[in-house]
Amino acid sequence: MRAIRLSAYGAPPSLALEELPGPLPGAGEVLVRMAAAPVNPSDLAFLAGTYGVRKRLPVVPGFEGSGVVVSTGAGAEALAGARVAVTAGSGDGTWAELVVTRARLCTPVLATTGLEAAAALTVNPLTAWALLDVASRGSHRAAIQTAAGSALGRMLLRLAKRRGVPMIHVVRGPARAEELRALGGEHVLDSSAPGFDAELARLALALGATIAFDAVAGPLTGRLVAAMPEGGRVLVYGALSSEPSSLSPLDLVFGGRRVEGFWLAGWMRERGATEVAAARAGVEAHIGGDLRTDFAERATLDRAVEAILCRSRGERRGKLLLLLGGDPA
Ligand SMILES: NC(=O)c1ccc[n+]([C@@H]2O[C@H](COP(=O)([O-])OP(=O)(O)OC[C@H]3O[C@@H](n4cnc5c(N)ncnc54)[C@H](OP(=O)(O)O)[C@@H]3O)[C@@H](O)[C@H]2O)c1
Repeated sequence: MRAIRLSAYGAPPSLALEELPGPLPGAGEVLVRMAAAPVNPSDLAFLAGTYGVRKRLPVVPGFEGSGVVVSTGAGAEALAGARVAVTAGSGDGTWAELVVTRARLCTPVLATTGLEAAAALTVNPLTAWALLDVASRGSHRAAIQTAAGSALGRMLLRLAKRRGVPMIHVVRGPARAEELRALGGEHVLDSSAPGFDAELARLALALGATIAFDAVAGPLTGRLVAAMPEGGRVLVYGALSSEPSSLSPLDLVFGGRRVEGFWLAGWMRERGATEVAAARAGVEAHIGGDLRTDFAERATLDRAVEAILCRSRGERRGKLLLLLGGDPA
């Protein structure tokens, strides 16, 4: 079977399409014929060696994807033939024609969910769901998000709108701002525009935006903290700027504001299996709508390495979907 393998972390990473022996499922595992897998910022950070998880090399990258279970190990027979959304365990990931993974890391999808949509069912949609869950548990009346033009940002925009949660969407340029207004974003701010900080502070106070979801980090974290009302809470959940978050300590000391990290895996552990299963069901109900991913490019395995490296070099924008050979219907 063919798979993409990472043999050295870095910028650029050492990636190649290789012919590998077909894996066999052990007890509690399943063999999945893969249909599709997205290339997310977490994958690119993993390839660069800057993600919070490192694996022994060489390894097949890819944190999520979808496919059909073609063989099962002892105890995993219930999944035989199932169409599933897959998340990778501690070994090889999803960028391969065949993947062996723990049965509990596979979620059967509805017959109405296409395998392209199922490929991006977990990382971004569940995070959007989880971030709004945190906001709701904290009784925050409104929220701020950065990198609002990202796939996840658009999901947050649509989901927050549906739930009636006012949200301030921060993007880094006028073109993206226009796009988000066209998507229905009411409060869209361009961080590169003059007067951004004052307008953010004014809106945050007016709406009661006491929580912010920051995927950019760098100086933007500090600008959020400074603009938020007293008691404001910033959840840093990404590092798109590749810079350390910087902020004025005085904004923490005198305003009772907090900066925390957010990781989906931590939220899933905290909430427990029953709540996570309910969230997954909620996510799947919206996977063709509010929580859809609009892929900008699709690449078959023979073109995948070049397409991934283009994303690593920041030469192309928009979400890339790898087509891994299985029927993506
Ligand atoms: N913590 C977690 O558990 C978790 C889970 C899922 C996702 N995430 C994070 O969520 C974020 C969005 O993921 P995604 O898959 O939705 O991304 P995506 O669709 O691939 O989009 C990437 C976005 O990054 C923006 N961007 C890139 N460099 C930037 C910079 N220097 N300053 C500001 N914006 C920059 C781009 O802005 P333009 O629109 O202007 O090009 C684009 O909107 C990522 O940081 C990802 O790691 C975190």
